Amino acid sequence: MAYLALYRVWRPQTFNEVVGQQQTVTALQNAIREDRLTHAYIFSGPRGTGKTSIAKIVAKAVNCEHPVDAEPCNQCSACTDINNGNFMDVIEIDAASNRGIDEIRDLRERVRVMPAQGKKKVYIIDEVHMLTTEAFNALLKTLEEPPDSVLFILATTEPQKIPSTIISRCQRFNFKRLSSGQIIDRLRDASNSFGITMDDDALILIARRANGGMRDALGMLDQVYSFKESDISKEDVLEVLGLVDDNFVADIFDAVLGKDPETLIDKINLSISQGKESAQLVRECSLYLRDLLLGKLIGSKAEFLMVSEANRERLMQQTQQADKEQILQLLRMTMDLGEKLRFSEGQRFLLEITFLEMIAVFSEGENKPAVSAGSRKKESATIREKQDKIDARDILWNRILAGVKEKKVPTHALLSQGKLLGTKGDTMYIGYTKGYKFHKERMEEKANREILDQVIKEIFNREMEIQFLFLDEKKTNDIVVQKAIEYFGKENIEIND
Ligand SMILES: Nc1ncnc2c1ncn2[C@@H]1O[C@H](COP(=O)(O)OP(=O)(O)O)[C@@H](O)[C@H]1O
Ligand SMILES: [Mg+2]
Ligand SMILES: [Zn+2]
Repeated sequence: MAYLALYRVWRPQTFNEVVGQQQTVTALQNAIREDRLTHAYIFSGPRGTGKTSIAKIVAKAVNCEHPVDAEPCNQCSACTDINNGNFMDVIEIDAASNRGIDEIRDLRERVRVMPAQGKKKVYIIDEVHMLTTEAFNALLKTLEEPPDSVLFILATTEPQKIPSTIISRCQRFNFKRLSSGQIIDRLRDASNSFGITMDDDALILIARRANGGMRDALGMLDQVYSFKESDISKEDVLEVLGLVDDNFVADIFDAVLGKDPETLIDKINLSISQGKESAQLVRECSLYLRDLLLGKLIGSKAEFLMVSEANRERLMQQTQQADKEQILQLLRMTMDLGEKLRFSEGQRFLLEITFLEMIAVFSEGENKPAVSAGSRKKESATIREKQDKIDARDILWNRILAGVKEKKVPTHALLSQGKLLGTKGDTMYIGYTKGYKFHKERMEEKANREILDQVIKEIFNREMEIQFLFLDEKKTNDIVVQKAIEYFGKENIEIND
């Protein structure tokens, strides 16, 4: 049997089969029943929520030879041809493609031609916001003088990009994200139809990650099936989709909120050693923080994307340990990290340093001076942010120093005159000002270097090459120092002592 993607097999073929979108479905069905469809509609909403599916159902309903109560029969030749994409009077145009734009150009002449095969010509223009200005103008002209036998359905995920002149000539339906419950029910039906049982936890996990899009949910189910065709557990889903368990992410944020750098670094190392992608871990963390923020603002009734029922209480406890601004700041740091990871070789270090910086967001609050006047608030927030970053680097540097001190006090004395600049790939840069030439040269000796190597290995669970540099003003142009600046931001690197 030829393989058909699940989302195609499970495309609703009648209004009755559509999940959710109740207002839209009812309005359209009534209009068809009473023969008062207008000539142009806009279907706007997130992807995978039924826009194309409902457009096709409308196209069938108006062309069907034996419609029953405004439902297509899906049996007659019109219905089957539309289902197979062979019906001459249902024209699908992808506005994102060049061909689509050509097709719009000669739309004005074409729409005058009477339907060849059916009762009504239906133009379904997908991603309509992608049209060029020229194509929008051509479309507008057509909408201004619409022939009776033509129906336009314009689908878009970004309605704000459509000119208001077009919008005002259409009736608009806003498609909504589907609820987790709606998606779970559909996923269960789909898996039952294949005789595959799925644990509730597995279904819930997929539904949550789909964020209201049925197409993505079915796509994920497909991926899992291609890997395993028998009983599917939550662990299977986590593994196939490369997701990180919400328990694990909860542990990470327990360590952040509890200001526990050892556990934090351990967790990150564990995740990396298990072969999880850094980018994926970061995505999961931002989902978690999004849930944390929602929990803080709305309470346990919020719709969580990441956190499962079992961990809800734990999440609510964590919301007690952070204020709204702090959670927002963590979220910003995480998203920022996601961006940086795309361009960085030093992924692991970047990951570690950012999470350590997160701890600083909470440590700093302890001796924060009270701010009285509202006008001073902004100023103090700026200072605070800068402070956080410096604290984070200090946390790491202090750990390294403490580790070295434990092994050999004289080595510590030499190292402590230096400064941690940053890393590039697997190289860590430590800088000394000119006055500490002696210290730098001693640190470069094998015996001292080895002690530092050992400590770094203990902290990061891997080897790094250490380079010692001189710092002075001219060095700002040094390529290596530039790299360090890229990691920490200019304001946080002190080139002069
Ligand atoms: N409201 C819905 N009810 C049932 N299935 C849906 C719904 N929305 C999307 N789907 C599923 O997702 C697939 C893609 O939906 P589609 O209608 O193309 O979404 P859109 O055009 O909004 O991106 C469908 O084939 C179907 O399997
Ligand atoms: Mg679509
Ligand atoms: Zn029919």
